[in-house]
Amino acid sequence: MHKDVKEILYTQDEISQKCKELGKLIMNDYHDKNLVLVGLLKGSVPFLAELSKYVNLDVTFDYMDVSSYEGTESRTITIKKDLDQDVKGKDILLVEDILDTGKTLSTVKAMLEERGAATVEIVTMLDKKEGRTFPIEAKYVGFEIPNAFVIGFGLDFDEKYRNLPYVGILKEECYQ
Ligand code: XMP
Ligand code: MG
Repeated sequence: MHKDVKEILYTQDEISQKCKELGKLIMNDYHDKNLVLVGLLKGSVPFLAELSKYVNLDVTFDYMDVSSYEGTESRTITIKKDLDQDVKGKDILLVEDILDTGKTLSTVKAMLEERGAATVEIVTMLDKKEGRTFPIEAKYVGFEIPNAFVIGFGLDFDEKYRNLPYVGILKEECYQ
């Protein structure tokens, strides 16, 4: 275990098993649709890679990189990298590492709906329900977690720890 990790919450095997379960649900719901998996950079990449192994459909992939301003309640976000494709008429599944306040995903969802996507839903590896300040829920949730700062499997602190093969709680002394 990495020295900055206080506790491991989910191992690689547990995440993989969860991806298998989510993949089944997604295949059931999207087998007759035009599914586009949209990964939110950078944190969603390991989860998207694992999850998509179990989505045995003709899907396409796209990526967005957005940043939201800290500490404001407004829905302003900056698009650092936009999608490559036109989403009109497509069924979009936004793939995220963690859903916290909901600001990022509620803004992106509204934006893609405005562009004419047929449907826009969310799959998130982790859901910090207590953190929610924007009214948005994910259709598929891997694990519900308490309000602790977590790292690994894509999640970072200061761009570090994304490569850890598990999700863990970061020691307080590392960010205080
Ligand atoms: P929202 O808009 O839902 O944003 O507040 C979710 C984004 O916030 C970041 N986030 C975290 N990142 N450990 C992290 O590494 C955490 O515990 C955590 N909580 C929120 C993350 O970038 C996510 O995309
Ligand atoms: Mg993120």
